[in-house]
This record gives sequence, C-alpha cells and structure tokens, in this order.
Amino acid sequence: MAAAGRRQLIVVSNRGPASFVRDERGERVTRRGSGGLVNALRGLLSHEEVTWIASAIGDEDRAVAGEAGGDAFDERAGDGSAYRLRLVAHDREAYDRYYNVVANPTLWFVQHYLWALARTPDIDERVMEAWETGYVEVNRAFAAAVLAELDRAPGSVVFFHDYHLYLAPRMVRDARPEARLGHFVHIPWAQPDYWRTLPDSMRRAIHDGLLANDVVGFHARRWRCNFLASAEELVGARPSPELDSVEYGGRRILVTSHPISVDVAGFLRLAGHDAVAAAERELVATRPERLVLRVDRTDPSKNVVRGFRAFGLYLAQHPEAHGRVGMLALLDPSRQDIDEYVEYLEALKAAAAAVNDRFGRDGWLPIDLRIRDDFAETLAAYKQYDVLLVNAVYDGLNLVAKEASLLNERDGVLVLSENAGVHEELAEWALTVNPFDLVGQAAALHEALELPAEERRARIDGIRRRVVEYDVAAWLSDQLADLEAGTG
Ligand code: F6P
Repeated sequence: MAAAGRRQLIVVSNRGPASFVRDERGERVTRRGSGGLVNALRGLLSHEEVTWIASAIGDEDRAVAGEAGGDAFDERAGDGSAYRLRLVAHDREAYDRYYNVVANPTLWFVQHYLWALARTPDIDERVMEAWETGYVEVNRAFAAAVLAELDRAPGSVVFFHDYHLYLAPRMVRDARPEARLGHFVHIPWAQPDYWRTLPDSMRRAIHDGLLANDVVGFHARRWRCNFLASAEELVGARPSPELDSVEYGGRRILVTSHPISVDVAGFLRLAGHDAVAAAERELVATRPERLVLRVDRTDPSKNVVRGFRAFGLYLAQHPEAHGRVGMLALLDPSRQDIDEYVEYLEALKAAAAAVNDRFGRDGWLPIDLRIRDDFAETLAAYKQYDVLLVNAVYDGLNLVAKEASLLNERDGVLVLSENAGVHEELAEWALTVNPFDLVGQAAALHEALELPAEERRARIDGIRRRVVEYDVAAWLSDQLADLEAGTG
C-alpha cells in the first residue's frame, strides 16, 4: 500500500533517473540520468510512490539489472527520496535498431520536420526491419515490465514518456483493459501530411498506441492541435469541439498541453556551486565585450549551422561589432552512433570555421565553439550572456530559454524561434525569429544587442516572473491532475 496521500505511479521512459558506471578504482557509482525529461520528473520522487521503468543502457546498467533478476530494486535520488527502479536489459541489437534506426533518426526526424523530402527519408527494408525487430520488440519488453509492476500494485497510474514508447500503451491496454495510462510527448507533433512520410502501418500503430492511453499530454497547444488533427485524419479519431479530448475505439482520451518548467530553487542552488564560480571567473577573464550565447545538444533540430551563418551575416553587416561581439556555443555532443548526427556535427564545425576564417583576427575569435558536456560552464555562461540565441528548427519546448533567463545577471535578451514550444509562453518578452530566415536572425541579433537597458530589464523580468509562477512543481501538479481526471 502507498503511504497516506501518496499516489502509486509507474513512470516509464527510455532514459532513467539514474545510471551506473565503474569509476577509475573499479567501484560502481551511480550517476544522475541526464536530459530535460528526467530532470523535470525527478520532482515526483519526493512526493509520490514511484516505480521507474527505464532501459539499461550501458554495460553497468545491464549488470545492475542482471543482479536484480530483471526486477525493480530500491534506489535513492540525490535528495534522499526513495523510489524503485526497474532497468530493462533489452537485447542489444534490438535496442540498437530501436534507438539508432527508428526512434531517433526516423520518429525524431518526422516530429521535428527534419527531412529534405526530395532525398529523405527512404523507408527501406532496414527501417522496416528495425521497426519490427527493434521498436516493436523494445516496446513489448517495456509493456511486459509495466504489466509485471501492475500485478504487484494494480491500482497504479502508468505514466509513459516520449517517442520511444508509442506502442507500449496499446500492449498494456490489450492485456489490462482497466489500466490507468497517461503519456507525455516531450517533442513537437507534426501535422498530418508530414506523418504521411511514414508507411500507413507505422503511422497507424503510432496513433493507435498513443490513443490507448487515457491522457496524452504535450508542452504546447500547437503540438496538441496537430495531434488531434493527425489522429482524426490518420485513424479516424473524433476530437471534441473544445479540442481537449478525442474519442477513439469507444473511449474518450483527454488531450492536454502544459509547458514543462524548471525547479527554480534547485537550479539556483546548483548555480551557487564553487565549480560554477570558477567557470565564471574564467569566462569573465576571456569574454568579449558583448556575448551572444547558445547552449544545445548537437542535434539537427537545434539549427546550429543557420545560427552560425546568421551571426556571420550580422558581422558582415556590422563592422563596428568586430572585436567587440562574440558568440559562445556550448554544445553537448549527442547521438554519435547515428550518421545524421555525425554529419551534423561536422557541418556545424565547418560553419563556425567559415565565420572565424572570414572575420577572426588576433585577440578576437568570433565564434568560440566548445563541444563538450560541462554543466558548470553552462551555468556560468547563463549568468554572463547579453543575448541568448534559441533558433530551433522545431523544438518540443526548449528549457534552455527558461533556465538561462533565470540565472542571467546582465539583463540578457532572448532571441527565440517561433517554432520552439516555449514560444507560446515567452513570446511577449522575446525577439521572435523565423529559424530559416538568416537575414531576420541577423537583424534580431543586432536589435537585441541595441535594446535600451530598461527594455532589456523589463523583458527578462517578465520571463523570470513566468518561470517562477509556473515552475516544475506547477507542471507536475498539472500532470497529476490530468492523470486523475483522465483515469479516475
Ligand atoms: O524529449 C526529448 C529528450 O528525450 C529529452 O528529454 C532529452 O534531453 C533529449 O531528448 C535527449 O535524448 P537522448 O536520451 O537520446 O540523449
């Protein structure tokens, strides 16, 4: 039984809240799982009775899963909260096909509109096989783990996350028609025509799988409406006139949108660490007079190449900025087992080099490109920027826009893609850009750097007020209320 007032939740996501590695001395150490999803959901651990099901990704995760006989085991979060963790050790090849062929280069590319349609995608035998023997298989393993946990605690609410797990809800629903299921999609949802880049069987299974939930959630109204439109067009679901639910297969599914947010107090605490102060000292000693910052994974959806080109255009148009304005790009290398990601990393290095070769001179590097995962450096840079460039092609939300504004100490201006989910929330305080329009982005960078001090202050204050008012606790409480309403 759950402790009084605590809900029994089964959280399911590909990446879990903890992963395991061996340190230099060969000792097993626990690492906090990374990524926006995991960081936001971690808040659930202190308030609810959580069993978290995730993939065993590295070798040590697999060893831990093996020692637990594939069952859940007790874990503690960084703040001491107890929860149960169940790591699913998938067949290695099946996992590779699921993650490196279907979930990331295929579904991710559909949902972020990343295809160059004259040339890609080719949905060939490799993709079809990866779907059958990778994506379906891994979803089946997740569904089996959920069913085992439901046997143990039948009344639990199951909370699936993201594009890795579109099929598992249907598998669970078929086995337990009364199960209480919710799913949150952390990335954009494409319009119906774009889903037609996938074969009918695949896109149907995806929609049918998601619609096996009681609740489906998104970060932005735009993605929610796209989902209702594609569910109607591709599988004949019937959206309500209020666009907050849909009827399908004789069931009503709640469809909601709430933008994920930041654990404000926790984030401010992290920013106070010594490592951040040290990184900030170094940055202050070397920074240009005006600093344009971007912080991203090296993902094609983040639009880094066009961002560099736009900055180059800005420099071409503003010789007075030479030597004074610099861009710092802190990029976390991502998904390097996937060709498209390897190519994109090369392309962005070349784009930065082209700008630096053209404009650089002694003592001034126009684009300071750092490809590494250094959290302290990122937090230091959040404090120091004058302009933050978030120009994503498409983005489910983009937490950087919120996190950075919270910490910034120079009234930095947010230049924001109209296709980032967070645009719905923060547009009134940002300078909006079209992510494909280099001229517009160059002009926005200039405008941001020239804005009067009072206006800069008013804009960033507006963003901060919003993030503090609607923090991650508010988002989580909306998720729990939706699950309650949809599954009650
Ligand atoms: O929702 C997108 C997401 O799953 C984020 O939670 C995370 O930051 C990112 O993708 C990382 O993806 P991966 O687990 O493939 O590194």
